[in-house]
Amino acid sequence: MDIIAVDHPADAQIRSWHAVVTSALSHDQPEEPLPTLGQTKSFLTNTPLTSRRLLWVAAETGGTIVGVACLRLPADRGSRRPCEIEIRVHPAHRRRGAGSRLLRAAAEAVRADGGGAVVTQAVAGTPAIEFLEARGFHCVLVMTGLLLRIDQIDGDWLAGLVGAGPPGYRVVRWTGTVPAELADTFARAKTAMSELPVGNRAFEPGAWDADRVREMAEVVAKRGDDLYTVAAVCGTPPDEQIAGFTEVVVPGAAPARAAQYDTAVVPEHRGKRLGILVKAEMLQWLRAERPDIREIETDNADDNSHMLAVNEELGFRRQREYREYQADVADLP
Ligand SMILES: CC(C)(COP(=O)(O)OP(=O)(O)OC[C@H]1O[C@@H](n2cnc3c(N)ncnc32)[C@H](O)[C@@H]1OP(=O)(O)O)[C@@H](O)C(=O)NCCC(=O)NCCS
Repeated sequence: MDIIAVDHPADAQIRSWHAVVTSALSHDQPEEPLPTLGQTKSFLTNTPLTSRRLLWVAAETGGTIVGVACLRLPADRGSRRPCEIEIRVHPAHRRRGAGSRLLRAAAEAVRADGGGAVVTQAVAGTPAIEFLEARGFHCVLVMTGLLLRIDQIDGDWLAGLVGAGPPGYRVVRWTGTVPAELADTFARAKTAMSELPVGNRAFEPGAWDADRVREMAEVVAKRGDDLYTVAAVCGTPPDEQIAGFTEVVVPGAAPARAAQYDTAVVPEHRGKRLGILVKAEMLQWLRAERPDIREIETDNADDNSHMLAVNEELGFRRQREYREYQADVADLP
């Protein structure tokens, strides 16, 4: 078996990568929708915003690709942000060392880059847990994956939540890039996300500015996905402040399942049900605008009890437990 670094994946490699990822997913999480080939291609060919990305495949002697690995290194070499790794091995080729060899290649790259901590996610009850624990990782964060069927929500109940927003705030919504006059205050509200609980995970809060907010929207658009944002705003122009916001991304190639992105309420505006307000408004908007969306997925750290409570009040149901694992690269093979 050879471990091959892939710089610019060709079409055949993209198809092989896709076959490994979809076989692994159908085997380990049969209830999950599979990515389309277009989504895999977009993932492999678009450059991420805040990181450098390295890819490897594990190929058998005849050239068959049996495993894949993706490593994200922070864009800024001096950053304390952990590196992130994802390894997938085809179910028919497991327990033959492909996962370990891909991990070794990634660990060598992290060491060469001067990196320290490496993180990854695994679904409870899948072989990844034993693999990661056997190879030097420990669990630093438990997350719950939740799902909401938006076509089953009672419209009157939702309208009641939207109507019960606290006085002194108005709701603003936009698709794609934030309106220019709100870009700075939106960046400050995004920075409030950095206060999310992250268990024992190595972490460096990301500071947002107006340019980074715009770049993030551009990356989503370039992938062919739609970004929806709802914000609660207080004050009057030119001193408007975003007090809280929520973002949902609808994949262009598979809109039936949308993904919750960031939601945050700025610390001085917490405790007024603004989280419920922006999320309820988002649901009402998407139900009217996007009948092609069936459900929204999200995940919350188990110690983020406020956000879990908001999501469960809105009807999100717990689906599975994810665990975030971390290792010091010195402890990896
Ligand atoms: C996790 C995964 C990558 C492991 O790949 P693999 O090629 O089977 O791993 P290896 O053969 O290198 O296994 C190394 C060790 O991990 C442990 N291990 C791996 N799978 C295991 C399982 N199903 N049960 C118990 N231990 C297991 C064993 O200690 C194994 O050594 P051994 O075979 O000598 O006993 C593979 O199961 C997979 O693709 N899972 C789905 C994707 C995923 O969840 N990735 C995790 C995030 S990186």
